[in-house]
Amino acid sequence: MVVIEPSILSADYARFGEQARELEAAGATILQVDIMDGRFVPNLTFGPGLVSALRRQVKIKLDVHLMILEPEHYFKPFIDAGADRLIVHQETCPQLYGTLETIRQMGVEAGVTLNPGTPAEKIAEVLDLVDVVQVMTVNPGFGGQVFLSSQLEKIRQIRSMLHARGLTTPIAVDGGIDLETAPLVVAAGATVLISGTTVFDPHATIAQNLAALRASYAAIESRPASI
Ligand code: DX5
Repeated sequence: MVVIEPSILSADYARFGEQARELEAAGATILQVDIMDGRFVPNLTFGPGLVSALRRQVKIKLDVHLMILEPEHYFKPFIDAGADRLIVHQETCPQLYGTLETIRQMGVEAGVTLNPGTPAEKIAEVLDLVDVVQVMTVNPGFGGQVFLSSQLEKIRQIRSMLHARGLTTPIAVDGGIDLETAPLVVAAGATVLISGTTVFDPHATIAQNLAALRASYAAIESRPASI
C-alpha cells in the first residue's frame, strides 16, 4: 500500500499546529519535518522546538529528515522532542553503518537518504539496518522544485537490491511529487510519497489535495509489482 507523507516544509509557517491537525484529520499517518542547517543544503529551517510543538498537536509519526552536517550531534535533542524516526543522508555520515545502529539503539526508527548525485550502491551495506530508504528526487534545500526523472532508475535499482536481500523495506521519494510524477514513482517501486507543495496547495483543502494525489496513482497501485 502506498503512503503519502506530507512535508511540513511547504506548510503555512503561521499555522503549523492547525495544519498538522488538519493533516491528521484527513488521514495522514506520518509527517516529514525537514531540518536544514544552511551548510549541507543552502537553506535554514527548523530545530527540535518545532518537533516538540508538533508532538503536542498530533499523534501521527514524526519523521525527521536531517539535511544537516554531523547529524549525530542532534539525535538526542530530536528524539527528546518527540521524533519517531530520524533520516540521515549517506553523504553526511562517514560511519553510516554505526550511525544507523546508534539511531536504532536510541529507540527510534532509522532511515537513510541519497542525493540525486549519489549512486544506490553507496547504501548497499546498510539496507538491513533501515526502516526506510528515501530517494531524493530533487536537490535538497527547497520545496516546489522540478522532479528529476533521472532518479526513477535509482528507485528501480534500490527495489531490486532490497528484493535480492529478501527485504520489504519501504522506498520513499522526496521532491517534486505531484499528480503527474506520483504514478511514475509508484510504478518504479516507491511506496512512500513525500510531498509538500501539492499537499499544501492553497487552492484546495489538505483533504482534497491528499485525495487528488491518492487518485493519481490508484490505477498503478492496484497492478501486481513486477521485479
Ligand atoms: C527538499 C525537501 C522537499 C520537500 C518536498 O529539501 O525535502 O523535497 O520535502 O517538497 P515538494 O513536494 O514541494 O517538492
